[in-house]
Amino acid sequence: MRVLERLDRLYAIGGGPGANRLGGTREEDEAHELVAGWMREAGLEVEVDGARNLFGRLRGRRPELPEVWTGSHLDSVPNGGRFDGALGVAGGLEAVARLGQRERTLVVVAFRDEEGCSGPGCRGSRSLCSGRLDPVPAAFVELHVEQGPQLEEAGAPLGVVTGIVAAARGEVVFQGREGHAGTTPMPSREDALVAAAEFVLRLREAAAAVDGAVATVGRLAVEPGASNVIPSRVVLSVDVRAPDDDRLERVAAAVPAELSHASAVAMSPALRAVLHEQFESRGLPPVELPSGAGHDAMVLAAAGVPTAMLFVRSLNGGISHSPDELTSDEDVELAVEVLTGTLDQLASAVDE
Ligand code: GLV
Ligand code: MN
Ligand code: MN
Repeated sequence: MRVLERLDRLYAIGGGPGANRLGGTREEDEAHELVAGWMREAGLEVEVDGARNLFGRLRGRRPELPEVWTGSHLDSVPNGGRFDGALGVAGGLEAVARLGQRERTLVVVAFRDEEGCSGPGCRGSRSLCSGRLDPVPAAFVELHVEQGPQLEEAGAPLGVVTGIVAAARGEVVFQGREGHAGTTPMPSREDALVAAAEFVLRLREAAAAVDGAVATVGRLAVEPGASNVIPSRVVLSVDVRAPDDDRLERVAAAVPAELSHASAVAMSPALRAVLHEQFESRGLPPVELPSGAGHDAMVLAAAGVPTAMLFVRSLNGGISHSPDELTSDEDVELAVEVLTGTLDQLASAVDE
């Protein structure tokens, strides 16, 4: 299947282990160039916006009508999985290529720097939506791997996303005083790393105390970073998620720094209904689930674009942000079929 071959081509870019196409790197550029070539081969008009997001357009018979968008991102975390982001772009392109011209213009989009490994994330989609989106697309449907165990546990290949959790990210700086590791007595030390370590444990407790919340410190920089010098400065990253804004605030209150917040967003009920029709016509179980991961879909939904997400089952216990991320070939094909049917239904509807 062409989608699987394309996922392999994208996966090979960073050299491994896993996907290595961090936002803002040459590898992300290479992925965008590769996909732009596939878009041209499929007869799509290629456009790159000011934030270097990539768009492939298949003009509709009624180009004056609001467009129907699909897609995701091509950047990855370090040593990431084969499917995260890449499936939504390669699968979206396959769906649009299978459909050919419809009444409405079909657009495949690849957003820049969704992972935001050193920032708040969704840089490309946020930039796109920072002004007024004009015209507002009729729909954005993002296909993505679940990145969790729920579909596998339910024995369901696909799921309809109800909404995306609230998230907060930022950095905390701990300041201490450097000194000699061998001669400075313990009581007189101001060790920035010890203060940071105590914070990491406090944050874990704060998240564990709030139902459905999670918090992660994934990056830590210690200065001056020598084994015989007491750490004088530590900068660490904080990532908090919770099912709603209120619970997010309760965890974020434990963080002594400004965080950038993204509210929880609901997916469009009308588009969820379209996905359910597609499930029903194929005899698929009508499974719904929330997304604990962030996605470009949340940015578009918050900007007023009717948005839906189609999740495909992750195997291996749902592991993601890891080279062990896995989805079966059969589930990928089924997901592309359902996405194709969904886009067909949306791009054929002209009653505005
Ligand atoms: C994106 O993968 C996220 O961090 O949720
Ligand atoms: Mn990811
Ligand atoms: Mn992703």
